[in-house]
Amino acid sequence: MSSPLSAEKIKNHQIGARIGSEVLVFDAVDSTNELAKQHLFQDAREGLVLLAESQTRGRGRLGRSWMSLPGMGLYLSLILKPKIPTRRLPQLTLMAGLAAALAVNEFSVPDARLKWPNDVLLNGKKCCGILCETHPTPTGESGVIVGIGINANHSPADFPDELKSSATSLKIETGNSTDRQDLAIALISHLDKQYDAFLSDEEPTIIEKWLENSDMVGKKITVTHGNTATPGTALGLDSQGRLLVLSDKGEELAFDSGEVSLQPREWPA
Ligand code: BTN
Repeated sequence: MSSPLSAEKIKNHQIGARIGSEVLVFDAVDSTNELAKQHLFQDAREGLVLLAESQTRGRGRLGRSWMSLPGMGLYLSLILKPKIPTRRLPQLTLMAGLAAALAVNEFSVPDARLKWPNDVLLNGKKCCGILCETHPTPTGESGVIVGIGINANHSPADFPDELKSSATSLKIETGNSTDRQDLAIALISHLDKQYDAFLSDEEPTIIEKWLENSDMVGKKITVTHGNTATPGTALGLDSQGRLLVLSDKGEELAFDSGEVSLQPREWPA
């Protein structure tokens, strides 16, 4: 377990002009995304970052939970109020995943790879997940809570049996403990840079940058939506960030991230 997080020390780094302009650190919370929602409803500023040492009800996508042991991982949520067309909102998950992968890369060899839509992998196993939730604000803007969980100092024994084959941590992959304070600073700083680039739509766009940090194109996958499983080959992402798949039946399909999960069939190779 690394030393406790300190909002003061994080702010002293003056990391982000926008993201991280205000940082709050909590001990145990139910979910930092839930807490961020309450702050959003009280009209908190864009860029507020909430961190917790542990979560009792950390949540993941598709109704899953997120294991949030005290002091082991980074559990962070931030508030965004982007003035962008609604169709671009799902791209914020890609933006956050890219920032998380770049932050993980500062502490890890080999590089992290992105798995659509919201996972960061090390050696093919998940070390980080992103959960974006959209809510209207009291003033009628779109508020987005970006929740990020990074497994930093977990040992294999810390994961339950059902996660042992799919989950990992920075410590397991690198053999080194990571200072969560430094990891938080790196993550907030990358989020600030990538969010700025995303808003100004700099080239290369978020889609291109995301693909550069992923190796899923050309890989055989199965996309599951409810009870329907579609085996096929990943072709890439379209301009909205939807996953393009050539199904084994020869159809070209586009999937929204909302309700879909993805299982590799030969990936990582
Ligand atoms: C996933 O991979 O399914 C998404 C996991 C997201 C976990 C983070 S931890 C911080 C924030 N608070 C939550 O309750 N969830 C996110």
